[in-house]
Amino acid sequence: MSTSDSKLMRGDIPRPFHVLKARQFDRPFLDYLCLLTDTIRKFDKTTAGLKYLQSLLSHKRAMLYFTQPSTRTFLSFQSACHILGIKSSEIRDASISSERKGESIEDSLRTFSSYVDLIIMRSPVAGLCDHIADLLDATDRPVSIINAGSGPDEHPTQALLDIYTLNRSFIKSGGIEGKTICMVGDLKRGRTVRSLSQLLINYPGIKLIYSSPKEFNIEADLKKMLIEHKISFEETDDFIDAIGSSDAVYMTRIQDEYDSVAGASKAVDTSKFRMSGQHLKYLKPNAIIMHPMPRREEIAPEVDHDPKAKYWRQERNGMWTRTALITMLLGVDNHIALPDF
Ligand code: NCD
Repeated sequence: MSTSDSKLMRGDIPRPFHVLKARQFDRPFLDYLCLLTDTIRKFDKTTAGLKYLQSLLSHKRAMLYFTQPSTRTFLSFQSACHILGIKSSEIRDASISSERKGESIEDSLRTFSSYVDLIIMRSPVAGLCDHIADLLDATDRPVSIINAGSGPDEHPTQALLDIYTLNRSFIKSGGIEGKTICMVGDLKRGRTVRSLSQLLINYPGIKLIYSSPKEFNIEADLKKMLIEHKISFEETDDFIDAIGSSDAVYMTRIQDEYDSVAGASKAVDTSKFRMSGQHLKYLKPNAIIMHPMPRREEIAPEVDHDPKAKYWRQERNGMWTRTALITMLLGVDNHIALPDF
C-alpha cells in the first residue's frame, strides 16, 4: 500500500481538471475510479495507512462553497479533504459573504480562487459551475472546480458514488452490465437521477425503469439522450411491477424546493411510490435499495434493517469515492499502488 513509482502509469485515463457533469466520464474512468476507491479505503484499516493518505495533499487548500442546503455531500467532501490532509475553508451562506455587499458571484469565486487549489461548490443555479470554471480557466490562476450539485441539473459526484455502490453490490453477479435499474420519485427535478442515468449509459445491456407520477416524469432532454444512446428504458406508474423487475431500486425525494408555486408538489399523489416493509416481498432475492438521501416518507424506517437496504453504506461510499476523485484532480492518484492494474 505504499508509493510505488513503477505503477505510476495509469494507462490512458486522463485526470480531469474539473468535475462539472456526469457526461464527462467514460467507462475506463469509472472502472479506474472504482478500483482506486476500493484501494484507498483499505488505508482506513491502519494508522499508518491513514497517516500516509494525510501526507498526500497536506500542502493543498480547498474551499467548500455551499449556498444550498447540504449535510452529507458537504460533510463527505470535508471529510475527504481531511483524509488527504487538505486544509478546508467554507462558505455556507452567501448572505454573510460580500455577495451581500453587491459583489457578483463571479468576483466572489475569483476571489476564493486566489486562496485555494480546489473549489467544491453547490448552488441552486443550474450551469453555474460550468460558468465559473470557464471564467477561472481564462485567468492566470485556474483552480479545479467540483460540482457538488447544481440546481435540478447535475450532481456528478453523487452519480459516481452511486456507480461505486452498484459496482460493489453486483461484484459477484457480473457487475452493472445487463442489470435493470429502477428510479422512483421526483424524476423531473432530481439531479441525482439525471446524472446517474448519464453514467449508466456506459454499461452495455443496462435497462432503466423510471417510475413516478406523471407530473414528475423525466425531462425530454434526458429521454432524448437515452434514445440517442439506444438505452432500453421505460416509464411507468406501476411501482410494484417496476420494483419487482429490477436489480436495483433507486428511491428519491420529491424536490419541492423547486416548486414554482409554494406547495404545488403536495397536490400530487405520491403515496403509491413509497417503499415499506410490505414491499420487500416483491423484490428479486438479490435486489438492492438505494437512496441519495435525505429521505422523507418514500422509504419507511423498517426497511433499514433489511440487507437489501444499501443507502447507509452508499453514504459512506461517498466519502471514499470523493477522496479518490480528489487524488485524481490534484494529481496524486499515482501514489496509490493498485492491485492488478
Ligand atoms: C441529493 C441532492 O442534493 O440532490 N442529496 C445529496 O446530495 N445526497 C438528493 C436530495 O436532496 O434529494
